[in-house]
Amino acid sequence: MTDPLLRLVDLKTHFQTKGVGLFGEKKVLKAVDGVSFDIAQGEVLGLVGESGCGKSTVGRTLTHLEKTTSGQAFFEGREFLSMTPHKFRPLRREIQMIFQDPFASLNPRLKIEQTLGEPLFIHGLCKTWNEARSKIAATLERVGMDPKIMSRHPHEFSGGQRQRIGIARVMILQPKLVIADEAVSALDVSIQAQFLNLIKKLQRDSGMSMLFISHDLGVVRHISDRVAVMLAGKIVEIGDKHQIFEAPQHEYTRKLLNSIPRIAIGKEA
Ligand SMILES: Nc1ncnc2c1ncn2[C@@H]1O[C@H](COP(=O)(O)OP(=O)(O)OP(=O)(O)O)[C@@H](O)[C@H]1O
Ligand SMILES: [Mg+2]
Repeated sequence: MTDPLLRLVDLKTHFQTKGVGLFGEKKVLKAVDGVSFDIAQGEVLGLVGESGCGKSTVGRTLTHLEKTTSGQAFFEGREFLSMTPHKFRPLRREIQMIFQDPFASLNPRLKIEQTLGEPLFIHGLCKTWNEARSKIAATLERVGMDPKIMSRHPHEFSGGQRQRIGIARVMILQPKLVIADEAVSALDVSIQAQFLNLIKKLQRDSGMSMLFISHDLGVVRHISDRVAVMLAGKIVEIGDKHQIFEAPQHEYTRKLLNSIPRIAIGKEA
């Protein structure tokens, strides 16, 4: 049997909070409190749960933005949470994140060409700007943007276009795993479906895996193969998307499903 692309084993990320308990002990916020799951190559795992349940902290821990308290995460069989920044560097290219706010993640002073090109040099994927430009053009086309926009700045684009540019910046690095954290939540509902289809197509064509974090069950249903339901730092149920949506086992999953109007549950891709 081959290793899954990603395996989490009893991951815990706790935060020290300012307050103290009744006996003067330091209070701990258990944002992620024993999370285990696998993501196979080419698979999309949706991670759902109410605000504050710890979804983003899972993603931030996996990209070394938060320090893990205990537990392990394996990428292609190698534990990477304990890696030094130097050792982790090659994995930074292979594990990419897409965030909610595309504008915040694009440097307003840089031309699109620089925004997309510089990571190519940093990660040693290109040696010359000619080479970089042809990669940038091809990637912009893949996300439905005219390659000519390369010489323009982020403020010249709409929210939806910026999100496409953000996705191009991730795809150009040919990651094996993309962690999308509320990637479509800031977009108008009218263009959300279009975006999900784009992400799904890019994912299928490239064979990459995804951890798709969202509080929106309709969105998660649309894009995921499997779904994990998170409550207060723990996974309460994980399974095939059809099982989760059509025959939920856990009481909390049923409660989540009942809390959204049926019409909001999009049809899966
Ligand atoms: N760096 C931090 N320091 C202290 N507490 C934190 C930190 N990051 C997150 N938290 C807390 O951890 C808990 C989980 O937060 P997290 O952002 O992971 O939730 P979430 O499921 O992504 O919520 P949302 O759906 O609102 O994005 C929250 O109570 C949050 O306030
Ligand atoms: Mg979040």
